Amino acid sequence: MSKIDEITRENWIMSTFPEWGTWLNEEIENEEVKPGTVAMWWLGCTGMWFKTPGGCNITVDLWCGNGKRSHGDGKMKVGHQMANMCGARAMQPNLRAVPFVIDPFAIKGVDAVLATHYHQDHMSAEYAAHVIKSGMMTTDENGKEIPVPFIGPKKSVELWEKWGVPADRCITVRPGDSIKIKDIEIIALDSFDRTCIVTTDSQGEDREELTGKCPTDMDDKAVNYLIKTPGGNIYHSGDSHYSIYFAKHGKDYDIDVAFGSYGENPVGMQDKMTSVDILRMAEALRCKVVVPIHYDVWTNFMADVNEINVLYHMKKDRLGYEFHPFFWEVGGKYVYPTDKEKRAYHHRRGFEDCFEAPQNIPFRSLL
Ligand SMILES: [Fe+2]
Repeated sequence: MSKIDEITRENWIMSTFPEWGTWLNEEIENEEVKPGTVAMWWLGCTGMWFKTPGGCNITVDLWCGNGKRSHGDGKMKVGHQMANMCGARAMQPNLRAVPFVIDPFAIKGVDAVLATHYHQDHMSAEYAAHVIKSGMMTTDENGKEIPVPFIGPKKSVELWEKWGVPADRCITVRPGDSIKIKDIEIIALDSFDRTCIVTTDSQGEDREELTGKCPTDMDDKAVNYLIKTPGGNIYHSGDSHYSIYFAKHGKDYDIDVAFGSYGENPVGMQDKMTSVDILRMAEALRCKVVVPIHYDVWTNFMADVNEINVLYHMKKDRLGYEFHPFFWEVGGKYVYPTDKEKRAYHHRRGFEDCFEAPQNIPFRSLL
């Protein structure tokens, strides 16, 4: 058979997807985390993998989906949270803009699956299926073997259970709750994701009417996390918008690294933090490093991190900022505090062993 005869759409998809294959899975497995540090990998959107010296691996908001893949009827559901927010009816052109850097089905072990909230870009049925079907285990505080827990706010737990995750595998957290796993402690904190407040259970003409209702269920819908690790305390704000209460979290906890959901909001939207919000969040949290995330994933919310950089340099001396921003790349590793002084990430460039083997070129001064 010729090459042309062998090629099908299916084998093209299988040989190119996920784009990074198991490259990152292997990198994470092989990473030896040094005492007093914590290693993190950005999985895209707000997806994060944490690995500690004590061999604790947790994921937050690991998600394996995408956005629009067809123009369809060009319409958005009447009760979609963005339709609720601004009264738009035309389809949102949110196409996934980053590659899949991790293969959820090739994950060999994890100690907990965490979600900050239940929106589609923050939870994965594929990953949940793999964790359940592969019988993944971890150990509890006393060293006893237990099935890997799924940890999230009430609405996330409801979604996991709807997908078929057994109820006894799920742990519902509310602000103030704390869970210890190996050498980390996870503290659930208040979320400020007001997009969750305008998210209704039913989407369609029978959507719940929100007008005039005072919502009181934020803690059931979303949480932020403080993850205490041997390498420092990491603050994951999920999809929180800016809130004055970041300042309270900054007073209650020592925060080393803070992740904030950044994006260029289309006109009519207030969903992601702006550059100013990211700096205000970092200042309020009194963190040492602030890392913008989420701006990578949706074509219609993509934003330039240089905007944060320009404003940071404008304001840092006058306001006495004690933090700096770090600009990351999806699929990249960040080790804290080892990489504390880094300001921007570049993927490994390779060719470290140049000239260690003989060249094969016409003459030495050719290039
Ligand atoms: Fe999101």
